Amino acid sequence: MFIAKEIQTAAYLFASILFILSLGGLSSQESAKRGVFYGIVGMIVAILATVLGEGVAGQMYIVIAIAIASAIGLMLARKVEMTAMPQLVAILHSFVGLAAVLVGFGSYLDPETQSLQGAAHTIHLTEVYIGIFIGAITFTGSIIAWGKLEGKVRSKALLYPGRHAVNVILLLICIVLGVLFAGQEGTSGLVHLYIMTAIASFIGVMLVMAIGGGDMPVVVSMLNSYSGWAASAAGFMLGNDLLIVTGALVGSSGAILSIHMCEAMNRSFFSVILGGFGNAPASKGEAKKMEGEVTALNHEEVAALLKEAKSVVIVPGYGMAVAKAQYPIYDMVQTLRKAGKNVRFAIHPVAGRLPGHMNVLLAEANVPYDIVLEMDEINDDLPDTDVVMVIGANDVVNPSAQDDPASSIYGMPVIEAWKAEKVIIMKRSMSAGYSGEDNPLFYKPNSEMLYGDAKDSVEKILTYLKA
Ligand code: TAP
Repeated sequence: MFIAKEIQTAAYLFASILFILSLGGLSSQESAKRGVFYGIVGMIVAILATVLGEGVAGQMYIVIAIAIASAIGLMLARKVEMTAMPQLVAILHSFVGLAAVLVGFGSYLDPETQSLQGAAHTIHLTEVYIGIFIGAITFTGSIIAWGKLEGKVRSKALLYPGRHAVNVILLLICIVLGVLFAGQEGTSGLVHLYIMTAIASFIGVMLVMAIGGGDMPVVVSMLNSYSGWAASAAGFMLGNDLLIVTGALVGSSGAILSIHMCEAMNRSFFSVILGGFGNAPASKGEAKKMEGEVTALNHEEVAALLKEAKSVVIVPGYGMAVAKAQYPIYDMVQTLRKAGKNVRFAIHPVAGRLPGHMNVLLAEANVPYDIVLEMDEINDDLPDTDVVMVIGANDVVNPSAQDDPASSIYGMPVIEAWKAEKVIIMKRSMSAGYSGEDNPLFYKPNSEMLYGDAKDSVEKILTYLKA
């Protein structure tokens, strides 16, 4: 059964509108669910309109493949822990890259495209070449990003002298190969494609290897953008308008997200795209020595401090996600608010491992949005705050970002927890955050550690608060 071309075009238009509404919905927490719903409906319409389109052969195989892939996808999504979400996103980006590479080779070898002549032929070859190039970079880059997030590849930046020159030379080789490729007849350009794919795959690996620790958020959003452009390129090769539009939506929204991430981390967008930035502490001198003494409190003492406080700010981080502490935290917040205290959350744009990670977890625990503030909205209030509770956060409250040029996170805006009267840091040990940098906050005279799993600690504090 096939649908007419006009109906397919109308369905594509409808799906495109749904995708735009979906992106719009995802821009705020209140409308995010609606945004996801639009996205799902748009995708179902898009798949149906494509599979039922004229000239699509072997629909039965496509349906079976979709059913198997959907079952795997459902199983993975149900199983994956919230803390492993970034890795899942990274590996899914790699699939988009691989798909673009395969579509590129398929489209090049397709006998129908072989019969194209003149400008149409050159345009098609250019689409194939660029599509495979972006796809290969996305594929290998995303695998390395997955490895870094999963802890399988060391998160420290791999920097070697002259790497920018090597990247430029490799890029030039690809351009020259591309020109030669465009002049080939039949399928004799296949060898050019193989060489370029190998080089692009290598560039993908090196681009992401060069970015370390704390700068990974930008890589995740950048690869998101690349995967969009790869899909768009596949759309050109297949002559599928919807794929072009959808890819461009993903590509541009990923690029906008990358720019926001760069602003949040005070990094230059272009140095990110070129791979590797802000990662040469050795060239900026010795890291500062930790000065001061680390002191710790127990749960009862922390509860007593909270009982006395009038204003409390909670800074959650990756450790809150690991401990799944958001539910008891909200219980604690409700108890404190009932006692007349002003309790708010301070969210750093790159807290956790995914853009919006903390917001999602707090929304899951039904924390009202009006007490969840962004870093910029709350930093000025911290000097007048009685207690800041840092729960499983580390890099996002590290003062070295402001005063230690030798630190790899130097220049990144942070939540200025140390300006409050008292800071309680809840984590299991003195170990460093994701960037691998030590945190002088723990040594400040107004800081107190509360060791242990965040969920367990909050539950214990809560029992003392309620007693
Ligand atoms: P981190 O700097 O990663 O620190 C998290 C802290 O949580 C760790 O020091 C750890 O200390 C503690 N922790 C772990 N499990 C815990 C548990 N069960 N209970 C209590 N504490 C626990 O987190 P952050 O402050 O949220 O900063 C995020 C970092 O990740 C930044 O460097 C950021 O650049 C990077 N990053 C972010 C993203 C995005 S998009 N958000 C993506 C990739 C990377 P202990 O081991 O001592 O408990």
